[in-house]
Amino acid sequence: MVKKISIAIDGPAGAGKSTIARRLAAEMGYHYVDTGAIYRTVAYFFDLWGVSPKDIDGITRYIDELTIRIEYDAEGVQHMIMNGMDVTNDIRTQEISQKASIISAHAIVRDMLLDMQREVAQQHNVIMDGRDIGSVVLPKATVKFFLTASPEIRARRRTKELLEKGQRADYEKILKEIEQRDYQDTHREVAPLKMTRDSIKLDTSDMGIDEVIAAMKEAIAKKVVR
Ligand code: DC
Repeated sequence: MVKKISIAIDGPAGAGKSTIARRLAAEMGYHYVDTGAIYRTVAYFFDLWGVSPKDIDGITRYIDELTIRIEYDAEGVQHMIMNGMDVTNDIRTQEISQKASIISAHAIVRDMLLDMQREVAQQHNVIMDGRDIGSVVLPKATVKFFLTASPEIRARRRTKELLEKGQRADYEKILKEIEQRDYQDTHREVAPLKMTRDSIKLDTSDMGIDEVIAAMKEAIAKKVVR
């Protein structure tokens, strides 16, 4: 089998990873794999079961009841299927963001999801975003990026995005939640968010999306001959 190309994009919440990864994937004809959505699906499942994301005994007891599938529709949009149910939209709340950040710290959860993520990358050329893609999931990724921006900028972008969708958004609250998630995601013992030495770091605080994408494409072109 021809070795597939994989582009890893890691970074903290709100750094623009998913927007950028989605566009890059569409332009390059690769599969976009949003791994945060997989952790969100786990968090959503235990939320429905009334199990706290910190309750490792409860998680261990019920985790075998959970099956997760990733599907792609005709437009290439990733859908999360939890026990046969499409939960793609249900997992996009602030509450599930926080719960996903807590639940993703458990080794039993991460172990369960590792093969699923690697399998997609064995079958397709992928642009995969998350927290541990370059460090754990795809350590041999063709190109690794680490996308970041100041917490204030990330909170401002997130506030704007919610307001544009007609939802309520409180900048101060969003900033606090982003800082809390940053702390949790970087301080956990298993697969914490960190930049690997072979990653290309892009601070997007003062960069527009087009500029970031152009910089990434240039870096990819040096490694991938098309
Ligand atoms: O990317 P996101 O905001 O949808 O991710 C939600 C949470 O899931 C994030 O705060 C930490 C966790 N996560 C993870 O631990 N590892 C990944 N590869 C992706 C997400």
